[in-house]
Amino acid sequence: MELDHVRIFDTTLRDGEQSPGATLNTDEKLEIARQLARLKVDVIEAGFPASSPGDLDAVQRIAREVRGPIICGLARCVRSDIDAAWEGIRGAERQRIHVFIATSDIHIEHKLRMTREQVLERTREMVSYARSLCEDVEFSPEDATRSEPAFLYEVLGVAIEAGATTLNIPDTVGYTTPTEFAELIRDIHEHTPGIEKAIISVHCHNDLGMATANSLAAVRAGARQIECTVNGLGERAGNAAVEEIAMALQTRRNYFGVTTRLETRELYPSSRMVSTYTGLSVQANKAIVGANAFAHEAGIHQDGILKHRQTYEIMDATMVGLSDNTLVLGKHSGRHAFGDKLVQMGYHLDQEQLNRAFARFKELADRKKIITDRDLEAIVSDEVFQPQDVYRLLQIQVSAGDKAIPTATVRLQGPDGEVVTDASHGTGPVDAVYKAINRIINVPNELIEFSVKAVTEGIDAVGEVTIRIEAEANGDETLPTNAQTGRRTYLFSGHGANTDIIVASGRAYMSALNKLIAVRGMPTARKK
Ligand code: KIV
Ligand code: ZN
Repeated sequence: MELDHVRIFDTTLRDGEQSPGATLNTDEKLEIARQLARLKVDVIEAGFPASSPGDLDAVQRIAREVRGPIICGLARCVRSDIDAAWEGIRGAERQRIHVFIATSDIHIEHKLRMTREQVLERTREMVSYARSLCEDVEFSPEDATRSEPAFLYEVLGVAIEAGATTLNIPDTVGYTTPTEFAELIRDIHEHTPGIEKAIISVHCHNDLGMATANSLAAVRAGARQIECTVNGLGERAGNAAVEEIAMALQTRRNYFGVTTRLETRELYPSSRMVSTYTGLSVQANKAIVGANAFAHEAGIHQDGILKHRQTYEIMDATMVGLSDNTLVLGKHSGRHAFGDKLVQMGYHLDQEQLNRAFARFKELADRKKIITDRDLEAIVSDEVFQPQDVYRLLQIQVSAGDKAIPTATVRLQGPDGEVVTDASHGTGPVDAVYKAINRIINVPNELIEFSVKAVTEGIDAVGEVTIRIEAEANGDETLPTNAQTGRRTYLFSGHGANTDIIVASGRAYMSALNKLIAVRGMPTARKK
């Protein structure tokens, strides 16, 4: 039986990037977009070009450089937004403009300060304007699930008449439930004039933890596009997670009777990349991509698994891109075996990245007997998924202890090749390292998050450090305001990995600082 195709519309780079603190720079967005193309999503929502020049630039680069998926830009029902979206995506192989306007009374009255008639008129005008620029236009009635159904059908009918080819039904505030949402999708089918000309899409938020369930219920009711994000990132509690949608549709394909075109083996590498770049870690018990998703702890379960895998496993871990450990690496492994293993794990490195990662692997293999997949992931994250170095950390040396004054000496290489050494004391060794770095790189910022975790068990484990720094944005009006302080600030994450957690902490700080410098410009050198 030929299964119906459900399109996967990935909005990691737009709704996902709206997650508090998930700021990505253009290079990171481009890398993620390339990974989404390997994952074979149908549509990449690359950004909201009218929101900032940086967003426009990232969408343009993705449109020019990423092949395969349709590249989509978001726009409010405002002419200048639609122009910016078109400017962003016009260089793509295949383009889509996504326009939205709110349709619930609460949004129309209190946010838009418009009447329903004005919303209808604006929809007609702006969808047809978008269609005059681009063949493929998606329309979203924001807050659809809290909109009056009769008005919703009317707006959707107008959007189809004006040229929309996909109608997206957002559960903007994560309010609906599966049965109710399926009913809404069926009612839209039944009552919207011209609906047979359009694809119905859904976009569910996870405020009540039902984003995936609601999206899947909508598929059962006839939706043929799902909007989702890697790791379920997104506004507030996030959006439906692509890995959950993909594996639910795959594992229960007979029940759903549909298929996606996703390359599911790219799910885990996508999750790792997004988590590393955003600095937002994935909880251990997260479905599909969490560290425990395929781990069996209970004796009865382990016994069952050993006797017959399917007693306690509904999916094969290799299907989501976890390696089956056929190749174990150690001290004597060569470059070829190392490269093969990374390919097996879903990493696609160029020669120079491979050389750097291999050097780190050799260094680690001298200290650690068995190198696990998690160690390799940490090496790739630390060595490859990093911003371009403006300053490079060459050396860290610390002295600490319960009776000692924690003191650190650091040596950095600046952009002109000059090597600078400085030292500082602090409340602890990490604080001392950060203060010593600050004495060389004069970019005021505040450390607002610091976390360290061991990637494997054992005393020789690699430690992975993730941090977040905040810096004054000097009047950059395009940035969101910090809800607590009321200030506009830059937020950057950084990560580092090493068997020595002080070194990992230093590397994480340099990674965040290099991102900040790339946006803010070079600091005034303080110490030579
Ligand atoms: O949640 C939402 O309503 C959105 C729209 C822009 C589709 O993100
Ligand atoms: Zn959304």
